[in-house]
Amino acid sequence: MEIFRTVDGLRAWTRGEHKAGRTVGLVPTMGALHEGHASLIRTAREKCDRVAVSIFVNPTQFGPNEDFARYPRTFEADCALAERLGADVVYAPAVEEMYPQGAATFVDVEGLSGRLDGGSRPGHFRGVATVVTKLFVAAEADFAFFGQKDAAQVAVLRRMTADLLLATEIVVCPIVREADGLALSSRNVYLSAEERRQALVLSRSLRAVEDLVALGERRADALVAAAHAVFASEPEVRVDYVELVDWATLAPVEIVETGTLFAVAAWVGATRLIDNAILR
Ligand code: PAJ
Repeated sequence: MEIFRTVDGLRAWTRGEHKAGRTVGLVPTMGALHEGHASLIRTAREKCDRVAVSIFVNPTQFGPNEDFARYPRTFEADCALAERLGADVVYAPAVEEMYPQGAATFVDVEGLSGRLDGGSRPGHFRGVATVVTKLFVAAEADFAFFGQKDAAQVAVLRRMTADLLLATEIVVCPIVREADGLALSSRNVYLSAEERRQALVLSRSLRAVEDLVALGERRADALVAAAHAVFASEPEVRVDYVELVDWATLAPVEIVETGTLFAVAAWVGATRLIDNAILR
């Protein structure tokens, strides 16, 4: 497995693969890889002839009081896992490689960028859209793999890819969970044992809403109220948002339909966790 630190190195590699008639898949990550990331790499491995995993903790998607400095960085273990899963390349640039001196250009997906996580993390999706545009331009991949875990991110990136006429096709992979329901996240390492238990309230709220929908409830206000009732069983967990939205526009819906996104975010201690379900 090769490790590239520069855009030129990565792009030359992709061009070589394309010249040889092979397809290239890109799996963008911020490292601290876990089974969720692994599932994306496996799917890329199945769908593409060659796979590149990018590992870049992107400063522009973190707010001033967020965890950029202490975000888990486990580069050696990440490379070992990527190699074991059959990745051909790890792309791990320095910040100055992705943001050249004086960088002043950003990608803002208007409207969507302010919804869900964008509401509570101003500037977050601007940072995500900007870095993913740069990764797409640098990698020239045929496909890029993202997790439904970050469902609002997927909506922003689908809109962005269509609007900017980018040639990389987005593939969305299912949420990987622990046996007890907790969605895997690089931030789960921040949780104490007690917080780890409290965090199960997020996935419990999803199940409650899915059960009510299965029983025929379609009204968003009733479903949101039911989810809040589940959160009330863990009074130490602070809800950030509980929303039913159209997955493409992230606009709130009044009546749920197949494909409606139910998304939650909550603070468990000092850690902000998110989870979601696509309703059917
Ligand atoms: P990161 O949080 O490292 O996640 C990288 C990818 O892994 C994302 O597409 C995310 O949705 C996916 N992922 C994380 N946990 C998952 C889980 N439990 N099941 C399935 N997929 C999961 O998302 C980012 O990085 C960044 O915003 C990035 C897109 C790399 C831009 O900086």
